[in-house]
This record gives sequence, structure tokens and C-alpha cells, in this order.
Amino acid sequence: MPKILGILGSPHPYGGSGTLLRCALYAAEELGLETELIELYRSKLEPCVGCVQDEEPTCKYPCIFEDDGREILQKLKTAEGYILASPVYWYGPSGPLKILIDRMTALENMVALGEPSYVEGKVVGIITVGADAGVTLAGAYLLSVLNAMGAMIPPWAHAYSHRGKEALFDDRAVMDAINVGRLVAGLILRVRGGEGPLAYLEDFDLLKRIRARVGEEKKKWEAQHEPKPAGSSRKSGP
Ligand SMILES: Cc1cc2nc3c(=O)[nH]c(=O)nc-3n(C[C@H](O)[C@H](O)[C@H](O)COP(=O)(O)O)c2cc1C
Repeated sequence: MPKILGILGSPHPYGGSGTLLRCALYAAEELGLETELIELYRSKLEPCVGCVQDEEPTCKYPCIFEDDGREILQKLKTAEGYILASPVYWYGPSGPLKILIDRMTALENMVALGEPSYVEGKVVGIITVGADAGVTLAGAYLLSVLNAMGAMIPPWAHAYSHRGKEALFDDRAVMDAINVGRLVAGLILRVRGGEGPLAYLEDFDLLKRIRARVGEEKKKWEAQHEPKPAGSSRKSGP
């Protein structure tokens, strides 16, 4: 079964970008695709040190670093598609997602060794969430960069919300995120010679069902991660 990797560039698993990413992945699963969500804030990723500048390219897969980036690059190499979801941090993606993009040079730079870019033909969708300006700029940046590495972009490939951590209650953004998942899945299925959607679907029953599922998960996660009352970790007085 073809696989889509969801890459979350937010420190909040169930914040705006995390919830919309889950909506997209569940919509792709409904079309029969396998999905996996990687939270970059749980990973140790060294920043790129620019080996690509060497004349004899040391910048190649699987990268010189033996950190969590190695496994993530391996998963990016084998998956058929990616959905990148990020909060907007100063008009761009978050720092960890930018670090991953730089580290993906090790996949793209295989062209310098006479191979195709390992990102070539991957199908990509994007989700960006902010509270102010910059959501479309950050999304356009991510789409351009992934395409510059060789990825394909389906129709309606960018979902965004200005509602910050409340993005799950932004109907348009949820519908768009569901369509990002459907259409990334659809293009993957078509490329493999099968049937798959390539048109936007306005389906409010699907929206309600997927939002309810993600909302339930979010509630459970929040119940397990309730902030402790201030001072609760202090020992009681003498
Ligand atoms: C360092 C930082 C920079 C931010 N810059 C922007 C920005 O340029 N534009 C914007 O719309 N929101 C900006 N925000 C707000 C976040 O995008 C917003 O809180 C969003 O909900 C975070 O996504 P998340 O809920 O998925 O973590 C910024 C937040 C932080 C912490």
C-alpha cells in the first residue's frame, strides 16, 4: 500500500497545524493509503553544515549526521508522498521544519552523483497555520522548495488557517486539509496507474466525521497533558 508521511513542524501535537494534518492524513487513509505522522519536535536534528559546497560532493544520502534525521530521510526516500504541516513562525515554517528541508539536500543532491533526486516524483501537500500574516507566504515557500527538489504538486495542495490553535473549528481550513489528504492520495494512486480523485470535494459529512475523530483525540491528549497547577511540584512547608 502506498504511504504518505505527515511531517509536523509544530511543538504542539494538537495545535492548529497538528489537528489539520491529522484531518488530511485520515482523509488519505479513507482512500486506502497508509500514513505515518512524524513530530519533528520529538526528533533530534542537527542543522545542515553545507557539505554540498565540497567539490567532491560529500552531500549525499544518507547525510553525514547519525541523528534522527537519518531515519526521517530514509522514510522520505521510501514514502510515495508527504504532507508538511507547520505553524507560521515569522512568515515562514518553524525552525525544525526548515532544518529538515536543508537536510533533505542529501536526497536532492543525489543528482550530483548521477542519480535522480530521491524526492523526484513524490507527491506533496502543505498545511500552514498562523494567527496573523504569512500563512500563504509560508505555504508558497514550502510548495516551491519541494517542487524544486523534484516533488509533484496535486491540485488544491495547500490548506491554511489564520485561526491559530483553533484551526480545527475553521470549516474552510478543515475542508481544505481533507482535500489536501484526498488529492495527495489521488495523485499517488493515478501515478501508479489506478483510480484516484483529482478534484476538490465539498463533503460536509466527511468534514464532520473527521473533525469529530480528531477532536476526540485532541481531548484525550489534553486530558493526559493537563498543565500542573503552579507550585504543585514544590514540597509542602515544614
Ligand atoms: C516565534 C513565533 C513567530 C510567529 N510568527 C507568526 C507570523 O509571522 N504569522 C502568523 O500568522 N503567526 C505567527 N505566529 C503565531 C503562530 O503561527 C500560531 O500561534 C499558530 O497557531 C501556531 O501553530 P500551532 O498551533 O500548530 O503550533 C508566531 C508564533 C511564534 C511562536
